[in-house]
Amino acid sequence: MIDLHSHILPELDDGAKTVEEALQMCRIAEADGITTIVATPHSMNGIYLNKKETVCRKVDEFNNTLKKEEININVLPGLDLHLYPELILHLKEGKILTLNNHGCYLIIEFPEVISSHIESVCFNLQVLGVIPVISHPERNYFFRKNPQVLQGFVNRGALVQVTAMSITGEFGKEAEKAVKNFLKKNLVHIIATDAHSIDRRPPLLSSAVKVAAKIVGKEQAWRMVTTIPEKIINQKRA
Ligand SMILES: [Fe+2]
Repeated sequence: MIDLHSHILPELDDGAKTVEEALQMCRIAEADGITTIVATPHSMNGIYLNKKETVCRKVDEFNNTLKKEEININVLPGLDLHLYPELILHLKEGKILTLNNHGCYLIIEFPEVISSHIESVCFNLQVLGVIPVISHPERNYFFRKNPQVLQGFVNRGALVQVTAMSITGEFGKEAEKAVKNFLKKNLVHIIATDAHSIDRRPPLLSSAVKVAAKIVGKEQAWRMVTTIPEKIINQKRA
């Protein structure tokens, strides 16, 4: 399986605190059947900056450490971005790290109020050939109350990534209800861990896939952690 959203890189944000914790997280992921993790540290959320060069360098260093430790996980670069005013400008300037640095997909966490301004940012992203991957809308009050707005973004070409622990109910009843509703409406493309630690938010996908399979069928649930994220990291239209 491929985990498209993970705070696996140590010491960059509120994810893995140390190299040892990051390695332990990878051991947990490997045991769960995960082979590839896209490292997506927070960026431009008002707390963490995490520039493209820093993330790429950290990914190289961490992959070397994984090899030495004989952990069979390949880590790829990415970001967990929040929408901010200069995003389009920074993208044009080549400052933004897209998923696997291919220039085609960006994971974006949307604000709790979705205005027409947000819609125009998404439109401008797509004009530049970048497809927004909307991060965990089931944890967003606005999307929970207005699934038709999420449907609108999907109709216009956005992809939707949900958090594995929302599906298993570990993010509370509201998120669980919303994510199951989105799954029923075929609004979900990717399940990812958004892992931050070994215990509080561990890098586990398989139990969420089993629950999702009961709603969308085994094959489609499996695609959400295999072929769809694979296309995204290989720069093909998912
Ligand atoms: Fe995240």
